[in-house]
Amino acid sequence: MKRDGHIHTPFCPHGSQDTFIQYIEKAIEHRFEEISFTEHAPLPEGFTDPTPDSDSGMVRGHLRNYFQQLKQLKKDYQSQIIINIGLEVDYIIGFEQQTRDFLNEFGPLLDDAILSVHFLKSEDDYVCIDFSDEVYLQFANKVGGIARMYELYYETVKKSILADLGRYKPKRIGHPTLIHKFQLAHSEKIDDAPQIKEILEIMRAHHYELDFNSAGLSKVFCKEPYPPLQYVQLAKNLQIPVIFGSDAHTAHDLHKHYEFLQQKITF
Ligand code: MN
Ligand code: MN
Ligand code: CO
Repeated sequence: MKRDGHIHTPFCPHGSQDTFIQYIEKAIEHRFEEISFTEHAPLPEGFTDPTPDSDSGMVRGHLRNYFQQLKQLKKDYQSQIIINIGLEVDYIIGFEQQTRDFLNEFGPLLDDAILSVHFLKSEDDYVCIDFSDEVYLQFANKVGGIARMYELYYETVKKSILADLGRYKPKRIGHPTLIHKFQLAHSEKIDDAPQIKEILEIMRAHHYELDFNSAGLSKVFCKEPYPPLQYVQLAKNLQIPVIFGSDAHTAHDLHKHYEFLQQKITF
């Protein structure tokens, strides 16, 4: 089944205005049978987005319109492609209750969803670790080094898997090596294999799917998918469902690297 399970939309404040139809037509043209639109959900009530333009999640007031448009498109295209209505929901330490409330309200409208860690907490501060190499390196300095930042990241991903976010909690864990996004901006060699393996073991034990995310391949400081291939193989060995996701924020990036990755590993 040719599937892309992680796609952004015109509702993304840091994405593009490319239309739903542009994404859908391209997916059909490339013979995809199933796609999920997974816009960044509105950040939890009371959380202050630390990014300069506060644009990490969609505007709460746009949710109704988002669901309405997707519901119609799902119908319009039902004979050609399966369109899942989804969201990429942030796991943020300290905002579990708000996230659970959000999911209890909107979960019934979702066909599919991804749970991702983009924000790490240190003392009373939050940082968006995938914003820029500068912010990432600054944060590493603040927490006591790159290795410590990696630990914080994997601890947070682990918490996300174990958190009680209610019955509508997403079934798929987003890009669980996102901390590699700026790995080529620092010269340290970090051996995080044990942590990644532990994450996968916990995902298996709790029946989560893996977002096999190709976006990192295009990032100049990353140059690998999230997670790297050897861990996708491990996930397969563990019988974790592996769902390809291009994480496209433009129609141009839709399905990017799909063929390349398909040649390396079957998923
Ligand atoms: Mn994004
Ligand atoms: Mn993400
Ligand atoms: Co995404």
